[in-house]
Amino acid sequence: MDRIAALPKVELHLHIEGTLEPELIADLAARHGIDLPFGSLAALRSRYRFEDLQDFLDLYYANLVVLRTPDDFAELARAYLRRAAAGGVRHAEIFFDPQAHVSRGVALSDVVDGLVEGCRAGAVETGTTSALIACFLRDRSVEEALDVLEQLVALGAPIIGIGLDSAEVGNPPSRFAPVFDRARELGLHRVAHAGEEGGPEYVREALDLLGVERVDHGIRSVEDADLLRRLAAERVPLTVCPLSNVRLHAVPELAAHPLPRLMAAGVVATISSDDPAYFGGYAEDNYAAVATQLGLTDDDLAGLARNAVQASFLPPERKRALDDEIDGWLAAR
Ligand code: ADE
Ligand code: ZN
Repeated sequence: MDRIAALPKVELHLHIEGTLEPELIADLAARHGIDLPFGSLAALRSRYRFEDLQDFLDLYYANLVVLRTPDDFAELARAYLRRAAAGGVRHAEIFFDPQAHVSRGVALSDVVDGLVEGCRAGAVETGTTSALIACFLRDRSVEEALDVLEQLVALGAPIIGIGLDSAEVGNPPSRFAPVFDRARELGLHRVAHAGEEGGPEYVREALDLLGVERVDHGIRSVEDADLLRRLAAERVPLTVCPLSNVRLHAVPELAAHPLPRLMAAGVVATISSDDPAYFGGYAEDNYAAVATQLGLTDDDLAGLARNAVQASFLPPERKRALDDEIDGWLAAR
């Protein structure tokens, strides 16, 4: 295994639906006797160039048509854990989008049961552990989000927290305060996408009105010096997804990525892969890309990996064990 793949990693920003590789889309379409969303596999692949977040989301949601049964969701999760483990991921806090499936007529229990089974089987096979975070779609209603949250509770779904994703601009965090209040009452962790395409004010809202414990992306915080100081002082982790930011044109090129500015400001920055089937790389590819393009050292990479361990919702003893593994990686250079 190459050196960066061997670095023990925790993945904190990973949409399981964003790990749906074209080959699995083709397999599942054949299994269910449905037409491929864009005709041929070659035609599908040709769509993987995106103008912006919405352009990507249009394809991401369209491809979900092949996910129908609990087995499909189990296969998706298991395939991801296999791939992630090969790249050094020891633990993943996995997002899923319940509304993207329920709105297509898939039973919520089929989604949850399948993902839980896939995560269980994947852990047995690879040793990579995981936990589930249900994300709500910010371009749908707050009433629907509240209703789905209550359905998850009624099912006893083993989620550790909630998140907020989908089309950001025009859908500020503030609208979802009642959902996050309810999640807090339920004892669930809270995270939200903010500052990906939306400005620093979205990050402030996520902190002040949703009470989030981590901010997903958050890169536009660099535009606001006061906010940067606050993120650093309050040690609010950002889950930064470098290859995603390049593919969705949130940054002009990797060499111009704000990660070094976040690190220099003392922000708890972490590296994740977001939707790796769409953005050209899994966790180790994101670490390798920032190492090469931003000139990060082994110490920098270990620091980013340690930040993710600390920013995870794992118990202290597992965090210590993972930290020790990172020490071992640094010592082996
Ligand atoms: N859903 C899947 N990936 C996303 C991203 N990068 N931003 C917002 N919503 C998403
Ligand atoms: Zn995301």
